[in-house]
Amino acid sequence: MVCLGNICRSPLAEGILADLIQKEKLNWTVDSAGTGSWHIGEQPHIGSRTIAKQNGLDISHQRARQFSKVDFEEFDLILVMDSSNYNDVIAMAENEIEREKVKIILNYSHPGMNMAVPDPYFTNNFEEVYSLLQNACIKMLRNIKG
Ligand code: 4NP
Repeated sequence: MVCLGNICRSPLAEGILADLIQKEKLNWTVDSAGTGSWHIGEQPHIGSRTIAKQNGLDISHQRARQFSKVDFEEFDLILVMDSSNYNDVIAMAENEIEREKVKIILNYSHPGMNMAVPDPYFTNNFEEVYSLLQNACIKMLRNIKG
């Protein structure tokens, strides 16, 4: 799960998917990262921690890190929150196999629309983000499992 700062959107996406993986007893690994370096080592934003907690998820153990080229080898799927994240991650890819791993997350719930997960760092709407991410994660899981 990749966003810009790795403190608002991608930590929530990680927490939501980690919960689904556990509930479905899947042998998957999920992690999150930011394309930017400003918040490395920080906890998720209080807004993300709060909306997660209201939905029964604890994401307070997470710490922000920066996306790196190694992630292309470590992960099969790289889900980004908006087209700016997409362009930043694609620019780091070295071949078609790596580029094909990168998907805009809301294309699982809103196919072909390249819709962005609105950044709550600016909108403060963490509830909207939670609901969009939960829906997209459920659809993604169904898509991959199917
Ligand atoms: P995120 O939100 O990408 O969802 O973690 C942001 C967090 C921090 C900044 C921008 C977006 N920032 O400019 O520091």
